[in-house]
Amino acid sequence: MKQFLIAGNWKMNTDINSTSDLLESIWNLKKNYSNSVQVLVCPPFTNLSQANKTLQDKPIHLGAQNCYWEPKGAFTGEISLDMIKSCGCNYVIIGHSERRSLFGETNQMINNKLHAILSSGLIPIVCIGETLEERREGRTFVVLEEQIVNSLEGIDEKIQDIVVAYEPVWAIGTGVAATEEQVDEAHNKLREMLNNKFGSTANKTLILYGGSVTSENADSIFKLTNVNGALIGGASLKAETFVTIINTAEKYV
Ligand code: PGA
Repeated sequence: MKQFLIAGNWKMNTDINSTSDLLESIWNLKKNYSNSVQVLVCPPFTNLSQANKTLQDKPIHLGAQNCYWEPKGAFTGEISLDMIKSCGCNYVIIGHSERRSLFGETNQMINNKLHAILSSGLIPIVCIGETLEERREGRTFVVLEEQIVNSLEGIDEKIQDIVVAYEPVWAIGTGVAATEEQVDEAHNKLREMLNNKFGSTANKTLILYGGSVTSENADSIFKLTNVNGALIGGASLKAETFVTIINTAEKYV
């Protein structure tokens, strides 16, 4: 049976009150969740504790959008994995292209975070993806392979405990999602790269697509063999569209 993860990346949106409002709206629209379609929301750090209170024992997972790899100390402005765990999170997004391009995150830093997350028992969602320039130059798969090799260095059989999100940079927040053919090609290639590097254990790794996913295009993406869900920005901030996307995934399990 195919496994899905539908993850909302709220980015730097919502405050304490609107976090609860949005979660309550999602819950009011959808109360039954399939074991094969895990649902995750990733609000800003400052709202995680409130989100945890609002979600209580509901079958919606909570995640952070970033973390630091050191456990504690003089790292002003950073957030440790124990802090994230104490807010009720079980997922952490790392390597988002906005973190790479705006905040200088390198594959080495992402690899440090990845190892720390795996040691903490949380589930990392590692984002990778090519820029428009790299795609135009025909370097998409070289770039993806480089990101896979360097950011996933040293995790071996723990490959099955991580989630990979393929997010072409040119599709994020632009309203221009990758076409069905582009998603299919990239995800098949990624599965092949993961299998080559980690062996058949990598068949268990969930590979999400991200970049302008909407309630309209979700169906054409979720039906693809090597797509296990989506990392959703803008469309996760509206309860109706987020729930429609979750329901769409349920058609394919
Ligand atoms: P988007 O963002 O759905 O708004 O394009 C996706 C992401 O950045 O994870």
